[in-house]
Amino acid sequence: MRVISGMRPTGKLHLGHYFGVIKNWINLQENHETLFFIADWHALTTAYKKTSELKENIREVMLDWIALGLDPKKSLLFIQSRVKEHAELFLLFSMITPKSWLEWNPSYKDMKYNLLRIQDLEIQFKGGIRDLIKELTSRLPYKVEDFEALEDMILDELSQSLVRAVFEGYMESHILKELNVSKRDFYDTDTYGFLGYPVLQAADILIYKANAVPVGEDQLPHIELTREIARRFNYLYGDTFPEPQAMLTQTPKLVGIDGRKMSKSYNNAIYFADTKEEVEQKVMRFFTDPQKLRKGDPGRPEICPVFMYHKLFTQDEKVLQIEKDCKSGKLGCVECKKIMFEGLERFLEPIRERRESLKQDIKHLEELFEEGSKKARQIAIKTLEEVEKKMNLR
Ligand code: TRP
Repeated sequence: MRVISGMRPTGKLHLGHYFGVIKNWINLQENHETLFFIADWHALTTAYKKTSELKENIREVMLDWIALGLDPKKSLLFIQSRVKEHAELFLLFSMITPKSWLEWNPSYKDMKYNLLRIQDLEIQFKGGIRDLIKELTSRLPYKVEDFEALEDMILDELSQSLVRAVFEGYMESHILKELNVSKRDFYDTDTYGFLGYPVLQAADILIYKANAVPVGEDQLPHIELTREIARRFNYLYGDTFPEPQAMLTQTPKLVGIDGRKMSKSYNNAIYFADTKEEVEQKVMRFFTDPQKLRKGDPGRPEICPVFMYHKLFTQDEKVLQIEKDCKSGKLGCVECKKIMFEGLERFLEPIRERRESLKQDIKHLEELFEEGSKKARQIAIKTLEEVEKKMNLR
């Protein structure tokens, strides 16, 4: 079975990337033929105005991938834009892909709304919108089972109303300015390239005739579209591509230092590039059970973000004791965080060291990816030749 996945280079990686994506990739490379690439062209579909950071971002991803354990001897690691054949297949696919397939793609619509700087909005209000939603939902006459889903739903509604307000022109310009939103932001993603994002993704996958694609749930519509493009091509020109399956990664969501999902835009992430001191400061700022104000107060480990980290990073035999002592009040949060920091460092330190030593020889690191790109290209060229023959171009 051939497995492929890609990642957009948005900068250095954090713990959430590891537990959500990379850990799974590392397991897969042991038993399957695996290809992993840095999707720099995909990054351009949204960040085309900020290419000054692109090279740096790619380098950070290369450092983190290898430091974390992706192994160029086991996986083909490469950079999308080095394999020009992806672009050629993308062009040919664009001839056969109905526009409606793309316009209906739910992640295209979602992404557009999200990109209307809803994240900026939140940062702007320093979590004010979320606080407001919390305030509102706390007054609901019934119990909310899945608070986060409700929160997301309201945020979603909010951003959609915002889009409407912007376009129908009934939002006053000074408010727009304050919200840091403009029609232009919206048009930023109103490009041909952004609409065609999933077609490029289909080319990435099918050019290697991959059978399986490990991705998060948000990517499912893209994989479905990939299958549809494969079917359409096979129908028009004869059997050529297998229909790849998505491999959903079952990962518990890793929280950041504020208890929300770990994310760069929430400013709550722990990075592999962080120094020991930076990690320590972050751990000390970690949110805990808000009802446990001082040592002696009984705590609720089941809702405490620090305890979630204990379960991942502290030795099993200690975790039970911590749980007990937190509940009884014997263990204070400062002490508890110190123990967690030790465990976290046991995990992070060797990664940090590998990262540092890789950094001493960036040329070598880049060569690894150039070599990977050359090997990937050999496969891509073969598929493309077959495609050209089938389409009577050759
Ligand atoms: N769209 C993916 C993401 O945002 C990245 C990606 C690009 C990808 N091409 C791919 C993933 C091909 C899997 C296969 O994360």
